[in-house]
Amino acid sequence: MKDTIRQLIQQALTRLVSEGVLPQGLSPAIQVENSKDKTHGDFASNIALMLAKPAGLKPRELAEKLIAALPANPQITKVEIAGPGFLNFYQDSQALAGRLDAALADTQLGVRKAGPAQRVVVDLSSPNLAKEMHVGHLRSTIIGDGVARVLEFLGDEVIRQNHVGDWGTQFGMLLGYLQEQQEKPESSETELSDLEGFYRAAKQRFDESAEFADRARELVVQLQAGEPECMRLWQRFNEISLAHCQQAYDRLNVKLTPADVKGESAYNADLAQVVADLKAKGLLVESNGAQCVFLDEFKNAEGNPLPVIVQKAGGGYLYATTDLAAMRYRSQVLKAERALYFVDQRQALHFQQVFEVARRAGFVHPGMQLEHMGFGTMNGADGKPFKTRDGGTVKLIDLLDEAEERAYTLVKEKNPELAEDELRTIARVVGIGSVKYADLSKHRTSDYSFNFEQMLSFEGNTAPYLLYAYTRVASVFRKLGKDYAQVDGQISLAAPQEQDLATKLAQFGEVLHNVGDKGTPHILCTYLYELAGLFSSFYEHCPILTAESPAQQQSRLRLAALSGRTLKQGLELLGLETLERM
Ligand code: ARG
Repeated sequence: MKDTIRQLIQQALTRLVSEGVLPQGLSPAIQVENSKDKTHGDFASNIALMLAKPAGLKPRELAEKLIAALPANPQITKVEIAGPGFLNFYQDSQALAGRLDAALADTQLGVRKAGPAQRVVVDLSSPNLAKEMHVGHLRSTIIGDGVARVLEFLGDEVIRQNHVGDWGTQFGMLLGYLQEQQEKPESSETELSDLEGFYRAAKQRFDESAEFADRARELVVQLQAGEPECMRLWQRFNEISLAHCQQAYDRLNVKLTPADVKGESAYNADLAQVVADLKAKGLLVESNGAQCVFLDEFKNAEGNPLPVIVQKAGGGYLYATTDLAAMRYRSQVLKAERALYFVDQRQALHFQQVFEVARRAGFVHPGMQLEHMGFGTMNGADGKPFKTRDGGTVKLIDLLDEAEERAYTLVKEKNPELAEDELRTIARVVGIGSVKYADLSKHRTSDYSFNFEQMLSFEGNTAPYLLYAYTRVASVFRKLGKDYAQVDGQISLAAPQEQDLATKLAQFGEVLHNVGDKGTPHILCTYLYELAGLFSSFYEHCPILTAESPAQQQSRLRLAALSGRTLKQGLELLGLETLERM
């Protein structure tokens, strides 16, 4: 609808230009907003305020001329001037009802991508394999997954890339330790089932024994040279570590598979070429033996240019070098038009730098969009980075176990008569959903405090609240012995609660477009929360089972069906499972 209004305004502007009211050559970004208060119509635009000056008119005068020039449209019943010169648009409720009827008949709920579909690389999760996945990787994994799902729903072709850290000097130490373990009679694989403990033990050996440390360093050299036995150990290590990750993905209901893994090591063979190409472009400067790119726009606190180091004095390559190779691959081989990086906000400078270097070096297509979707830190209740009671990092799997356990206790309290296996299913969906939703519903870039009580509450903007709201819709249909797909008739909007619910339902597409453009799933969370609230007042004020006429009952059932499907679809796009009852 906003697009329609934008087009109408554009036509009016063109007409005013041809009449000489507006000067030629203006191309303003026409803004149309949803009105907060229904008494001021459904949509508002500030276009008259924006263009009053170039037109040499008072905003209200221009607003009047604009209204006179607006083409008639059956979806708009009236346009009014408000305040200093805002245009308020009132939509026709029959036209709105018609759009919702169409959405109900469509598997995509009437949502289509406005522009052309794109090939989009989504870089997500990307843990370092040397250690167990911990809570720090939760955000990248689930926010990236949510945005990837939304883009796919809109019609983009999404290529997930799990850029795992599977290379680097710490592997020497790990392989050295693995080798030692394998020489022992008892199996090393049991040791590796606890990666965190394995890493700690290896580090301890490294710090304690000079001889071990030397061997570890030697192993790094051998690994880099591709020595077969060393490669075999390394592969075994990664397999086990990746299997741990995959377990977490499956449990989190995240759409990542082993096929999406393209780790740092995959770019090894290309790193020398990256450096050579930078050199050929004249972008490299040697500084203390290291190969660097200096970009004028990046300076340190003293105002001196900051280098992007691509090769150390000893010849070793860095994180940035690998990212440059990965960008080139994503642009030239994967043919991505857009790449989104879901990585901690603290890496913002790194991404600004490597994006710029890649552009100057021509590693990516000039039109390729490169976007760092940074996120804040997940803190504990005390506002400090999340730790276990004894100060260790919290393992993701332990956190999920606790969430399910707490959800189990809660659901059992509410519903003691449920069978054990149903209780377990509900606890799983609610527990995992709560952890995910709590994270997704916060603004991506802000830090937030992890709080079990809050996320498991049935009140407020939480997963339990939304999952419960969905079961209420489902129960309406269950009571009637109907299914969503089976409601005949047409929507007609009379009561204010019906109007408000309908207006919200019609905004689903616009919300998804926003999420896809900005990489911000919290917008979808807020939307679903508001939708659930509006459904609830509709359900209270507009009886369905005891409606006044069959036509009214059908209309209300159709609104309920669309509410249910939108809630379910929205939750699914956030990566949350739903329940028919709880
Ligand atoms: N492994 C890195 C880390 O844990 C994240 C990698 C993100 N992706 C990238 N292309 N740099 O910090």
